[in-house]
Amino acid sequence: MLRTIRTDQLRPGMHVQRLCGSWLDHPFWRTSFVATSDDIARLQGSGVDEVVIDLALGLDVEAEIPPVSPDAADTIEVTSASETDAPTAGMVTSFEAEVRQARHLLETGRRVVEAMFGEIRLGRAVDTSAAVPLVDAVCDSVLRNPHALVSVARLKTADDYTYLHSMAVAALMAGLARQMGLPEDEVHAAAKGGLLHDMGKAVSPPDVLNKPGSLTDAEYHTMRRHPEDGHRLLVDSGVDDATALDIALHHHERVDGTGYPHRLSGEGISRMARMAAVCDVYDAITSDRSYKRGWCPAQSLRRMASWHGHFDSAIFQAFVKSLGIYPVGTLVRLESQQLAVVIEQSPALLKPKIRIFHCIRRQSRVLMRDVDLSDAACGDRIVQAESPDDWGLRDLEKLWLP
Ligand SMILES: [Fe+2]
Ligand SMILES: [Fe+2]
Repeated sequence: MLRTIRTDQLRPGMHVQRLCGSWLDHPFWRTSFVATSDDIARLQGSGVDEVVIDLALGLDVEAEIPPVSPDAADTIEVTSASETDAPTAGMVTSFEAEVRQARHLLETGRRVVEAMFGEIRLGRAVDTSAAVPLVDAVCDSVLRNPHALVSVARLKTADDYTYLHSMAVAALMAGLARQMGLPEDEVHAAAKGGLLHDMGKAVSPPDVLNKPGSLTDAEYHTMRRHPEDGHRLLVDSGVDDATALDIALHHHERVDGTGYPHRLSGEGISRMARMAAVCDVYDAITSDRSYKRGWCPAQSLRRMASWHGHFDSAIFQAFVKSLGIYPVGTLVRLESQQLAVVIEQSPALLKPKIRIFHCIRRQSRVLMRDVDLSDAACGDRIVQAESPDDWGLRDLEKLWLP
């Protein structure tokens, strides 16, 4: 039985199941633990006002102290992953509003993933308990606005790539799973699998993992061990989530049988692993790395579409629908011979909302204005996606990121 209590009611021996309110700010990256005196002192100084305790796993509050909100346990799934003044899971938010949440969430996610990698590198079992609230928060964010978290996650620096790639794949998996109409438990399983898919890289040699250049055959062979390493590390750590284990082991398989480690093909690869293959590659090629700049989102989707035999085509089509043919942040040329950047999707895949900022004929900046291309009165359309590098635009995100 779960009970929500005030933090000042906590006593050593109580089993904290969840932290309420702004968990993103709290100093714990584990949120499920038996409280010690030290934990309680840290919690009471952290700004967390309420926690949920599990009476089956630890002590109850003393009988004379009534719980703060007796019904709160029923709603904890919604409230736990949200900031107190932030939108809750079921609310649709604007791209702009959700980007603020997404930045915060990515920073938390970076810490959690880095901590998990750190434990593995120290030879310890990885504690994935912190993944659960993180995955909840990712799924909530993607539900409130499907484009904010994935758009911000794409902008990671090369230094942050290893940790934020896991967060990006988690968000992409949640969006793809929802686009495919999977039930919510599978949406969460997909996101969790995305978060844990590259745990094997924690034991890859850092000089190979971060090498600023192409890999030798031997180094390439070393890197190709990470799916089996990740699967083994998760099993050894007691993870029994079949989806997460499957995704860790098989996210580099290809439907034509040329992937690794087992050269599985077609439906011999699970649906979740085929989904992860798409999300993994998209984030890898759109991100800046130590050895190359990331490709722009629309260009990346075009290239992926041309890699026959690599991806499940139905899943790839759903992925494109989940992001848009011109994902947020894509530089586009309009029929009116102006340059614009995509700022939001609309129900019409080819007609997103854009921000016009440059006149090609006059070769000059124009006063920025936002246009909804799906508006029948608009009269303009996208001719093609453009490469920001071709136009000398190195910080395009300044034009679309709130
Ligand atoms: Fe991988
Ligand atoms: Fe990956």
